[in-house]
Amino acid sequence: MAVKKVCESFSKSLIDDVHKWGCMKQTGVSLRYMMEFGSETNDRNFLISAQFLHKELPIRIARRAIELERLPYGLSEKPAVLKVRDWYLDSFRDLRSFPDIKSMNDEKDFTEMIKAIKVRHNNVVPMMALGVQQLKKGMGPKVVYQDLDEIHQFLDRFYMSRIGIRMLIGQHVEWHNPNPPPHLVGYIHTKMSPVEVARNASDDARGMCLREYGSAPDIHIYGDPDFTFPYVPPHLHLMVFELVKNSLRAVQERFMDSDKVAPPIRIIVADGIEDVTIKVSDEGGGIRRSGLPKIFTYLYSTARNPLHEHSDLGTADAVTMAGYGYGLPISRLYARYFGGDLQIISMEGYGTDAYLHLSRLGDSQEPLP
Ligand SMILES: Nc1ncnc2c1ncn2[C@@H]1O[C@H](COP(=O)(O)OP(=O)(O)OP(=O)(O)O)[C@@H](O)[C@H]1O
Ligand SMILES: [Mg+2]
Repeated sequence: MAVKKVCESFSKSLIDDVHKWGCMKQTGVSLRYMMEFGSETNDRNFLISAQFLHKELPIRIARRAIELERLPYGLSEKPAVLKVRDWYLDSFRDLRSFPDIKSMNDEKDFTEMIKAIKVRHNNVVPMMALGVQQLKKGMGPKVVYQDLDEIHQFLDRFYMSRIGIRMLIGQHVEWHNPNPPPHLVGYIHTKMSPVEVARNASDDARGMCLREYGSAPDIHIYGDPDFTFPYVPPHLHLMVFELVKNSLRAVQERFMDSDKVAPPIRIIVADGIEDVTIKVSDEGGGIRRSGLPKIFTYLYSTARNPLHEHSDLGTADAVTMAGYGYGLPISRLYARYFGGDLQIISMEGYGTDAYLHLSRLGDSQEPLP
């Protein structure tokens, strides 16, 4: 992977600008705000939104670019991390060299540009994972997870910020769809049925399990399919997909060679006043108590790691998310992004319950690292 030093590819004035913008204050928005603002589609709002992003995105991107330069244990120098840093600097430069947005024509060009930025960053997660793996390899077998706490915290901040940046861009871009499907405001579905999303996500995960193992446990979903609340369906889909994938794998591996029929995975959707909670329960044998502190880290997986040093992550679609150890930490970030949370309770020797709490009110501000 040929990556140049920062001073070779980027001018000093750009780097100075990054540091200036990286010190500015970020502005968080809530799901409710995005939904209410987005419900009025007109040129004036398009302009206001584009002008906001023109100022906000470089601030958020600059912060991440600076942090990418200052990672401990030499992580900043790993080729994969340098590549990610270059994507951030390229995007910062694109945003900063775009002139003030004054007309609808400017707005249109700006929207195209941020759409391209979103595509540029598509593979940031596996590329960073590769960087961390390059680091881990260099550290030898004695690496202790607790020692890498700083790196976990950085990755949590980094990915949380990425979720926010992609939500803001996606929301603005989708909003321009002249024929939006009913009840969709950008990415937000004002009447999302969690049972329906859970069913789709489970079907996808089950399909994957069938392909991988040749069979798959049943999945039963309990809850009112007509119950709806405003949320972002792809976010919920991703979280349930990851939880169900974990449960399927655990049950499958436990019962694959046994005479007993594999017990079904149960998903329960509860609608409360503050929270919608989705519980994914399995009888896959649970997680050892000593393993529990590690399950939310980005380095821990009991699955075979699919990352290869030489895989070409620069091209889109080159990557799947199986066996990185990213399912749980990333799902928890998505939950927290809109004020929710994810908890895992295990009974070793029996099974695991994952509780996914989503805030119904939608008024918590984005957490901005
Ligand atoms: N329902 C479960 N039952 C048993 N073990 C689980 C369950 N969920 C998670 N785990 C354990 O926690 C680890 C981390 O889970 P996580 O979803 O973060 O990563 P992964 O499944 O290993 O890889 P990825 O999700 O990135 O494909 C798993 O490797 C597994 O050992
Ligand atoms: Mg997983």
